[in-house]
Amino acid sequence: MDNIIIAPSILTASFTNLEGTIRELEEAGSDYLHLDIMDGVFVPQITFGAKVVSDIKKVSKIPLDAHLMIVNPEKHIDDFAKAGCDIISVHFEGNIHIHRLIYQIKAHNIKAGIVLNPHTRVDVIEPIIDDIDYLLIMSVNPGFGGQKFIESSIKKIEEAKKLIGDRDIILAVDGGVNLKTCGKVLEAGANFLVAGSAIIDSDNKKDTINKLRGN
Ligand code: DX5
Ligand code: ZN
Repeated sequence: MDNIIIAPSILTASFTNLEGTIRELEEAGSDYLHLDIMDGVFVPQITFGAKVVSDIKKVSKIPLDAHLMIVNPEKHIDDFAKAGCDIISVHFEGNIHIHRLIYQIKAHNIKAGIVLNPHTRVDVIEPIIDDIDYLLIMSVNPGFGGQKFIESSIKKIEEAKKLIGDRDIILAVDGGVNLKTCGKVLEAGANFLVAGSAIIDSDNKKDTINKLRGN
């Protein structure tokens, strides 16, 4: 089995003590930090932009995985890449030039990904599957942390795993991933778990991360 990558999302953490939280997540064995970038238009909430990402980069060596939930991502991709993101992913929904966006991200020599909302079919990525490094299946409707895992996502993860075949593409899942749901998500073929509240609300983050990994 592949190594399972765990990427805590800081969405539900207190933004007044980000450095402390990030250090705690680093010590607990996080592989990536998942950064939920929201603009209040693509999704209801507004979070933070490239300035905060570059500040995070200064205090931590953990690779950064930016999930862009914003309209017109082409206006901001270069700033997020320069701020130090290691993966940038854009939603399939609402973007009419996905192929161009993927290559705008890749021009920075970082990984480029596509995110699919719960209602979006997996096979939409077929024509550009050889262009992407990362596929993120949303298992909640994006916008907020702490939502319930949508069960139909399991079938989509299985389909995505099949479609990816032996290509070197990260298969990530985001939303409602916790100690109850992680087993079936891994079994379906995901190798990268984003988990927000399950890790942030846990008193023993190291133990939770290990358990999410399937250990
Ligand atoms: C939702 C975000 C997620 C969120 C996950 O829009 O994309 O990354 O932080 O939070 P949990 O794990 O609590 O569902
Ligand atoms: Zn996310």
